[in-house]
Amino acid sequence: MYKISVSTNKKNRLELDKVVSELLSLGIGIKLADIVEESTCSEESIVLFFQNYQTVKLLKKIISVLNLKDCRPQVSFLEDRYWKNCWKEGLMPFKITKDFTVVPYDRSDLSLKNFKKIYLSTELAFGIGTHPTTKIMAEFIKLKKKECLSLLDVGCGTGILSILAEKYGFLKVRAVDIDKASVLTARKNVKTNNCKNISVNQADFLNLSGSWGQFDFVAANLLTEDLISLQDKLLSFVKTGKYLAVSGISLKNSSSFKKRFAKKDLICCKSMKNGDWAGFLYRIQR
Ligand SMILES: C[S@@+](CC[C@H](N)C(=O)[O-])C[C@H]1O[C@@H](n2cnc3c(N)ncnc32)[C@H](O)[C@@H]1O
Repeated sequence: MYKISVSTNKKNRLELDKVVSELLSLGIGIKLADIVEESTCSEESIVLFFQNYQTVKLLKKIISVLNLKDCRPQVSFLEDRYWKNCWKEGLMPFKITKDFTVVPYDRSDLSLKNFKKIYLSTELAFGIGTHPTTKIMAEFIKLKKKECLSLLDVGCGTGILSILAEKYGFLKVRAVDIDKASVLTARKNVKTNNCKNISVNQADFLNLSGSWGQFDFVAANLLTEDLISLQDKLLSFVKTGKYLAVSGISLKNSSSFKKRFAKKDLICCKSMKNGDWAGFLYRIQR
């Protein structure tokens, strides 16, 4: 297994977004869920894993000619033993909100008696919860937990937001992801956390039928362009007077996003920023 990583200092974090856009647009099947984000106190990185050395070599070349400021693509070889566990190593429990601590599966040995915990495997899905866009959404869910009983998690990844919603008292949670591996990981996480109110489905949200009904809270942590193109569909799943939360918008695009997403019956009741990312909470007034 080969690992390719691109690192930069915190100041140039937006350069990594350029790399991500480039990788997604190459048409070689790289999905957002394949890209792992890592962060230390001084550096931000994105990491991808491939079996094929030629692919990695090609990607290194493509990234090198992007003319990025202070970004270093690096390739390394991982032994199988390391690869199987590398997502877990060094991953420590952390707080997703003030109330809940996310614990990676293999750290369940840690004594965290006084914490409310969510056990999570990320295996093949996006969303261990350390990403700012996930944290923004987690805060929105927490904020509206008293007013909402049902939640639709669009692009659930590991299922972390659905699990958090149930832990916060939501009684009906439906999660959907287009990616099969994410759905399998999310189902496993739902089971591990003993959640009873969550169902996880594999589907393209665009094709979802209205028979799912409407929800008090629709959560969508997606690419900005997807949020724009799916806007009407997202709104069709929200009950009147209730909430649509969107996350995954890079700070530099946030004001143009707000303008493009504006509608007569959408009231923006909260904006949130975390690192270089923004999210918005809307109330639907039809
Ligand atoms: C940024 S991740 C968010 C994961 C998780 N909800 C979180 O906040 O950490 C976006 C997820 O949306 C999924 N996705 C993208 N487009 C989708 C679509 N049209 N229908 C369903 N899922 C989609 C991706 O597979 C990915 O798992």
